[in-house]
Amino acid sequence: MLRVVVTGRIPGEALEPFRSDPAFELVTWSSDEPIPSADLLDLVRGAHAIITLLTDRVDGDVLDAAGSQLRIVSNVAVGYNNFDLAAFAERGVVATTTPGVLTDATADIALALILMVTRRLGEGERAIRSGEPWKWGMFYKLGTAIAGRQLGIVGLGAIGRATAARAHACGMTIAYTRRRGLDAECDETLGAHYVELPELLATSDVVSLHCPYSEQTHHLIDARALAAMSPSAFLVNTARGPVVDEAALVAALDAGRIAGAGLDVFEHEPMVHPGLLARENVVLLPHLGSATAETRLAMARLAAENAMAVLRGNEPLSAVSVC
Ligand code: DGY
Repeated sequence: MLRVVVTGRIPGEALEPFRSDPAFELVTWSSDEPIPSADLLDLVRGAHAIITLLTDRVDGDVLDAAGSQLRIVSNVAVGYNNFDLAAFAERGVVATTTPGVLTDATADIALALILMVTRRLGEGERAIRSGEPWKWGMFYKLGTAIAGRQLGIVGLGAIGRATAARAHACGMTIAYTRRRGLDAECDETLGAHYVELPELLATSDVVSLHCPYSEQTHHLIDARALAAMSPSAFLVNTARGPVVDEAALVAALDAGRIAGAGLDVFEHEPMVHPGLLARENVVLLPHLGSATAETRLAMARLAAENAMAVLRGNEPLSAVSVC
């Protein structure tokens, strides 16, 4: 019997193929709280496949606790910074993620943050809820128009591209930077143009982060990068919190070095830097990028399909290169 371990609660329909086939034993950790690491080591013992959440750190200890029969760890997330890929490579374990299915949901949130922070929507909503007296006024809570302004996309993968398309439809011009250089299709369809990061930071009215988190992108947006941005520019992050040096961001906001920030992810989730909480020109969302019922089901399905494929001796649908 092949043991499939799921480390948190995911949409049950996705697991039906394992439940209904006697060749599999399904073991699930059925809490919405991230599984404590000691429990994770216990739970994975004897697993042939592990389906994980982005809150689970999967390193050599976890892989060894599972045992040498382990074939795949399938993340229910497009990001995989919770995986120690060197440990996977050493042990020949396949790592997979869920790209594609959350592209639109996450790009929607990036656009929502762009609009919320530039148009002061969080601030307006808070004002009404607080009971603060208000009335329509010519100069009341004026924001910044985005049409005709430049969106700088850092990391033009699927989500970056989908965000660019949404912003383009709102009349923004698009600049982008990415490891692989220019993307001719994006240039043609969105009138976008490739620039190096320093130019993107210096010229964009909104900088939106879409790069994966890694050693190379840790604190990519630090005090220096923030100082390179225009004082009228906004920063949006739907990628991973530690891409931004949060303390430097707070300092930049305090000093008026940038105009505001829209954040869906944080450096030490679920903790949020106290310096961000009090600021009116900051929009804070609790990592909702992929949080629609449809998207979470699609992510869970793809993660289950990856596990099933590998357990049946087939190629996974969306493997991460582990070498
Ligand atoms: C991901 O899949 O990496 C997203 O951050 C989940 O919301």
